[in-house]
Amino acid sequence: MKVPLSPRLLACCDFVHSGDRVADVGCDHGYLGIYLLSKGIASKVIASDINEGPLKSAIRNSEKFGVRDKISFCLSDGVRNIPRDFDTMVCAGMGGDTMVSILEAAPWLKSTQYRLILQCQSKTPMLRQYLAEQGWCISEEIALKDGRFLYTVMEVTWQPGDPLSPGQCYFSPALLKNPSTHLSAYYNWIISGLRTIVDNQKENADPFSVQALYELTHLPPEFDWLKEEHK
Ligand SMILES: C[S@@+](CC[C@H](N)C(=O)[O-])C[C@H]1O[C@@H](n2cnc3c(N)ncnc32)[C@H](O)[C@@H]1O
Repeated sequence: MKVPLSPRLLACCDFVHSGDRVADVGCDHGYLGIYLLSKGIASKVIASDINEGPLKSAIRNSEKFGVRDKISFCLSDGVRNIPRDFDTMVCAGMGGDTMVSILEAAPWLKSTQYRLILQCQSKTPMLRQYLAEQGWCISEEIALKDGRFLYTVMEVTWQPGDPLSPGQCYFSPALLKNPSTHLSAYYNWIISGLRTIVDNQKENADPFSVQALYELTHLPPEFDWLKEEHK
């Protein structure tokens, strides 16, 4: 039986290292952890959710796929109630504000001991800005398409450095370094969203969006292909 994993969640799994102990926070159906265990990628999985319904369905699915005894299930808001003995925290399919509140409540995560794999559904520029301000570094990020929608998945490590500029909050330096199939589509989608914001706000346009749009439309010439490939 094949674990029904979306391209979005498969992209998260690609960031998991062999033998990792994984905490899937906001696991819902639990398929990410089930897949990682049935493929022998993760050595251990903690699947947690803030709601009982999703957790029960994750337990049922783990029984169906024969990995029930290899997963610890936890009812928890973020990582509040989960054991800390994991290497990689995956948070997928949540808004940037939820991810920020999960990280805010767990300063103990700020350590080279932990790696975060984040797949954010909304307010992604705000999340990137927060991460950099707090000392988290987006070490890798990939753009992908799932159905009609564009997403990114980021690998985040504890490595305090410089804050991000407005343009970098919308399109991280890590994305620029990773010329994946859907990067051009993602770039053009971001530019078109920023243009709409700036045009609608006219003379009251917020300086952050104006600056981001300026930076992203004035990338060095070696990135011209981003504009050209997806008109
Ligand atoms: C849209 S689903 C995404 C499920 C799965 N991770 C995915 O990407 O397909 C979001 C899940 O996160 C859970 N959730 C929301 N806020 C949470 C929090 N603060 N801590 C843990 N889980 C949370 C919800 O109950 C829901 O099951």
